[in-house]
Amino acid sequence: MTAHIIDGKALAEELRQSFKARVATLTAKGQKPGLAVILVGADPASQVYVKNKVNACEAIGMKSEKIVYDAAVDQQTVLGKIAELNADPTIHGILVQLPLPRHFDESRVLEAIAAQKDVDGFHAENVGALAQGKPRFIPCTPYGVMKMFAQGGVDLNGKEAVVIGRSNIVGKPMALLLINAGATVTVCNSKTKDLGAHTRRADILVAAVGKPKFVTADMIKPGAVVIDVGINRLTDGPDAGKLCGDVDFAACLETAGQITPVPGGVGPMTITMLLANTIEAAEREASARSSSRAGEGPGERGPG
Ligand code: GUN
Repeated sequence: MTAHIIDGKALAEELRQSFKARVATLTAKGQKPGLAVILVGADPASQVYVKNKVNACEAIGMKSEKIVYDAAVDQQTVLGKIAELNADPTIHGILVQLPLPRHFDESRVLEAIAAQKDVDGFHAENVGALAQGKPRFIPCTPYGVMKMFAQGGVDLNGKEAVVIGRSNIVGKPMALLLINAGATVTVCNSKTKDLGAHTRRADILVAAVGKPKFVTADMIKPGAVVIDVGINRLTDGPDAGKLCGDVDFAACLETAGQITPVPGGVGPMTITMLLANTIEAAEREASARSSSRAGEGPGERGPG
């Protein structure tokens, strides 16, 4: 039987429409959600991602600010900008596009972002909160995957889940989310011995390895839910220039129970969850302000 194709583009659009009302409510309260995106260098893929993030904000009425530096910029300049954005009340989310040039200490930069504006969920405080099962900000790509499971009625409790990829951006937070949802989780990578023996046990398979068509049909358990996080541009063959996932989609379509396409699967969900996290950050700020204002009322004051 042919797998059900999980339409990330449609789900992303539905969610983005639903965000408009939240943005309008915040804007009316003088708390228009604002996202600042810092890009260092001119990596073409990063340029496209950043442009898409900025456009997505504007499309739903949010404020966005793009800050671009030459690849040779010194780390101190970027840290100075982050400090400025941390203090800016019109900015609720700050994102530094990764990867950074080699002369940067990536964790130093990520730790400089105020945890309450870390809409990527990469700050150690937010990573720790997720590991403890009390997430504050969930990294956008795995958060989008969890929304896709929820929408598709995929029950994760007690399921065998295999994640291929161990990055801080996708693999590790994905594994934590699956653990928190009650799945039995195995984290593999491209060098795992007898990878197929692991993947063939998986009721849920998440491929985030960055290698085109790395997951083949013989690696999939019949009926499995297959999530393809890869976005690879093919360089040769008849499909040169086209995007391709980490999963051999056409071949796996007959074996999987549900599968995400590339493009139109996880990709649109990543930016959608970035918008969700930024709106959430603005809502938290608005409610903190209104409760501190309530605290300043006459009834709450001490004598004098
Ligand atoms: N580079 C690739 N994916 C991401 C992401 O989700 N956030 C950031 N900041 N950089 C990335």
